[in-house]
Amino acid sequence: MDHFDLVDGELHAEQVSLTALAAEVGTPVYIYSTATLTRHYTVLREALDAHPSVLGDSLIAYAVKANSNLSVLATLARLGCGADTVSEGEIRRALKAGIPADRIIFSGVGKTDAELAFALQAGVRQINVESVPELDRLAAIAAGLGVVADIAIRVNPKIGAGGHAKITTGGEGDKFGVPADEALDLYARAAASPHLNPVGLGCHIGSQITDLTPLEGAFGLLRKLTETLRQQGLPVTRIDLGGGLGVPYVGGAVTASPADYAAMTARVLDGLDVEAAFEPGRLLAANAGILLARVIQVTERADGRRFLVLDAAMNDLLRPAMYDAFHEVKPVAPREGEPVAYDIVGPVCETGDTFARGRLLPPIQAGDLVVFTGAGAYGATMSSEYNSRPLVPEVLVDGERWAVVRARPSYDEMLARETTADWL
Ligand code: LLP
Repeated sequence: MDHFDLVDGELHAEQVSLTALAAEVGTPVYIYSTATLTRHYTVLREALDAHPSVLGDSLIAYAVKANSNLSVLATLARLGCGADTVSEGEIRRALKAGIPADRIIFSGVGKTDAELAFALQAGVRQINVESVPELDRLAAIAAGLGVVADIAIRVNPKIGAGGHAKITTGGEGDKFGVPADEALDLYARAAASPHLNPVGLGCHIGSQITDLTPLEGAFGLLRKLTETLRQQGLPVTRIDLGGGLGVPYVGGAVTASPADYAAMTARVLDGLDVEAAFEPGRLLAANAGILLARVIQVTERADGRRFLVLDAAMNDLLRPAMYDAFHEVKPVAPREGEPVAYDIVGPVCETGDTFARGRLLPPIQAGDLVVFTGAGAYGATMSSEYNSRPLVPEVLVDGERWAVVRARPSYDEMLARETTADWL
């Protein structure tokens, strides 16, 4: 569910007219809905709280990579949300947005020494260690700083899942995590270090997962490993279940609900007496954001093929080019008339800059506004300046009010970041 609806024949973000917004801010622009973000967080929180003895004190650590805008993070911070981070930059963003360090998890397959030191000094809740060399580097860094690092071991459960091969992370050949048997050894090795405090296990098997079966398999493995470690006398107090729950990109699409997900998790962890953490990104942010674009022109070929050429491109929303991802496209002010099939493209000089082929839409004219829905996660965060197109701006809406929360850089600002080498 979202808060982007037609009001008097024209799409609004909550109570804000998209036509008015486009006139003031220009296009392309990302627009986020506070009410939708809040709703998504609350639905998940309530689903978890429905199992108070198992998940009542669980942490929702929002995966910052999905949408790292400071205002989005601050909105979630006010709801009590934590953060899952994968770089110093993301930790800095989470802290700046008001997320307390003890709710910040630091994950990732290749954390640098400098980033590990930064995380330790910031006092993050836990560092999810993914490999033997990382564990040894972290122990040395913690020793140098005179601190003890709370860590979890990320397990590679050999169960991959997700909406596309490129976003599946739990498979045997994937670069993430430590195989189960090695994880047990690594845990013991951490426990033996005076500078490491192993607190738990974690996993994250993929993204846009619509069926709970693979998640249940991975969570069950974490449970088994927890029991084994405890039998060996090693305490395990936390389990990090990662993110990955899919969202409907099209109205009516069937995905596992947060309630089913919470019920499954509670069933698997029942009686284990651990503090659970969840790292949802897409679930909270995807349908809380749209990309608003204007039609530059409609090009009609003699063979009848019609191209809708937008002022948004693959550099602004990469997912269709990168993962063949489907995003619904809707006109802001739908015109009367029979639907027409359009190939929807951007101005970038690659055929990959094609958002959709043969998409049926109401008739569209040059100058019309359209939106891509489901663009709140992995939209702006994956954008670039490819083709020297200034970075797409972002707007946050809350009821009737709205604010530009990342401004569109001017061409001068874009060029000012570079210098010409002094011998030129
Ligand atoms: N935790 C970890 C360790 C992760 O690597 C990720 C996502 C998440 C949590 C959040 O997953 P989510 O709940 O959002 O599925 N760019 C791709 C998605 C990449 C996801 C990478 N890891 C896309 O646009 O579909």
